[in-house]
Amino acid sequence: MPDILVVDDEPSILEFLEVLLSKHGHRVRTAATLGLATDALAAAVPDLVITDFRLGKQSGIDVVKAARALPMPPEVIVVTAYGTPASAVEAMRQGAYDYVTKPFDNEELMLLVERALEKRGLRAENRRLRARGSGVFVGQSPAMQQVWSLVQKVAPTRATVLIAGESGTGKEVVARAIHFESPRASQPFVPVNCGALAEGVLESELFGHVKGAFTGATTDRQGILAAAGEGTVLLDEVGELPLGTQVKLLRVLQERKVKPVGSSREVPFEARILAATNRKLEDEVRSGRFREDLLFRLNVIVIDVPPLRRRREDIPQLAQFFLERVANELGRPGLHLTPEAMAVLQDYGFPGNVRQMQNVMERAATLSDTDALGVEALPPLVRGAAGDLEAGPEVALPQGFSLELHLDTLERRYLHEALRRAGGAKTKAAELLGLSFRSFRYRLAKHGMPPDDL
Ligand SMILES: Nc1ncnc2c1ncn2[C@@H]1O[C@H](COP(=O)(O)OP(=O)(O)OP(=O)(O)O)[C@@H](O)[C@H]1O
Ligand SMILES: [Mg+2]
Repeated sequence: MPDILVVDDEPSILEFLEVLLSKHGHRVRTAATLGLATDALAAAVPDLVITDFRLGKQSGIDVVKAARALPMPPEVIVVTAYGTPASAVEAMRQGAYDYVTKPFDNEELMLLVERALEKRGLRAENRRLRARGSGVFVGQSPAMQQVWSLVQKVAPTRATVLIAGESGTGKEVVARAIHFESPRASQPFVPVNCGALAEGVLESELFGHVKGAFTGATTDRQGILAAAGEGTVLLDEVGELPLGTQVKLLRVLQERKVKPVGSSREVPFEARILAATNRKLEDEVRSGRFREDLLFRLNVIVIDVPPLRRRREDIPQLAQFFLERVANELGRPGLHLTPEAMAVLQDYGFPGNVRQMQNVMERAATLSDTDALGVEALPPLVRGAAGDLEAGPEVALPQGFSLELHLDTLERRYLHEALRRAGGAKTKAAELLGLSFRSFRYRLAKHGMPPDDL
């Protein structure tokens, strides 16, 4: 039975949703404050969280963050007030699955709930597939082969490995590969997002706490490092660790023992630790945000995951991989890219790397009515300017060049040409240039082209 956590500071809404969701066969827990919600999340990870955006003085965004930072994160639906699109955007940015606007329609909400639960089901399925280590590491480029051979080399050891690379390059994929290629594969792999939790919460998450360590610590609780047993813990976004926690982590790494918050006793742990970062930690050290001693401890072995634009050879294979995956999910086995669309993808810079590629393919497949995905199925950003600028014809820059003069001349030529084609009809000419009539007239005047003479 799916487990849903409902968070709202309004008792009547809590009660209403509890009845509605139970009637649809879900197990429901409720929380009226951020604190109670975090407790409920800690007690057991639900399949879905439905939270109000505003919890009195507290924010539902913190519920989203806490939920999404969990090792097996639940989907989250955020309830926002009518006319506050910014809060919806913020919720999605923090990883919410979707949002509903108050006052919501029961059917609309239930539809969303079912879809979110379905997605969670798919995710769990993906996770099982991944756990079998089946073909998840796509990329035959020399750069990725090198990454792969490093993975093989470090996997059997207990060494701490720092995985560095831009956002979306596949750092977590590499971390999972290390885990699943290691003798620890049958043990848990637990990623922890170091940037998502407040210092105190993070420490009690990682190291555990004893009863009475702080308000709300009603029982002893094991931290992730101990709970992972002989598995692997990925400290994701390690560059975001608060300085205080960095000191503690350094000790933990050196002594391979943790001291739960509020305890004076150290407990040994067996888990292997990996770390990932999309920041240049050397820069962070220079600006005093990261401890040099911790960096030295972490960067004994570094795996650099190159950005996608440095391994364009992988683009076709990745595109194919993601497309096949959505095609399966959508039950549309015929989906394919036209050669033109593939060419555009290969020219694109992918600032968001593999994750962006994945999104582009999912979007194209979902929005397209036909099985052949052409250039028009790609987002404007991908097919547009970036490609043109980089791939377009080279421009000349002669001595004494003046951009302003050059653009002026161009503008004049276009104004002329448009008027000529429009047979002097100014409204038509403006339209040809994609200008408003006012702006067109202004430009004519600027160039001393008295409109009536033409
Ligand atoms: N080589 C790859 N083969 C298959 N899928 C990949 C590969 N690299 C990345 N992906 C997919 O791309 C997405 C982003 O990868 P991942 O989460 O590992 O990136 P990241 O470097 O950790 O990003 P961030 O810095 O934003 O956390 C994931 O969905 C992942 O499954
Ligand atoms: Mg990551």
